[in-house]
Amino acid sequence: MGSDSDLATLKPAIDVLENFGINLEVRILSAHRTPLEMIQFGQEAKSKGIKVIIAGAGGAAHLPGMIASLTSIPVIGVPIQSKALNGVDSMHSILQMPGGIPVATVAIGGGLNAGLLAAQILGTANQYIYQKVSAYRESLHDQVITKDKKLVDLGAKSYLSQMPQY
Ligand code: RP5
Repeated sequence: MGSDSDLATLKPAIDVLENFGINLEVRILSAHRTPLEMIQFGQEAKSKGIKVIIAGAGGAAHLPGMIASLTSIPVIGVPIQSKALNGVDSMHSILQMPGGIPVATVAIGGGLNAGLLAAQILGTANQYIYQKVSAYRESLHDQVITKDKKLVDLGAKSYLSQMPQY
């Protein structure tokens, strides 16, 4: 991440990867404030055995694109929801990459999906991780089925009355 202020957005990625038993390294590397450390990380990533990189940054969000320029390891960019422009600045900075140097950009604030996408990439070559991702998706399916059944049984009005936000 570009700053520790990005950590809350990236935490869901960290959590889901740890839950899947995937080894990860978490760093603060700023394209603007610590460019040399960022370059070193990008240049050493392959030799350290890193297989996919999640890079979250906000505002003039150059970190994902710069990391992608330094290594051929796939990079997933997470646009952080900035205060001034609600993350639209981060999103445009991350996804408008020039041809040849892609960054796979998730939604503004999409830390969870970044973690899941990283796991899915790793899962193409690792059956254990593939099964973890599949089980996670099955649990999402089951949660919706349970909610649908409850809604049908109770009726919409009673169901809504049990939801905390209503
Ligand atoms: C970016 O600047 C970071 O990724 C962060 O989203 C943003 C603001 O950083 P702080 O001023 O909160 O450290 O480089």
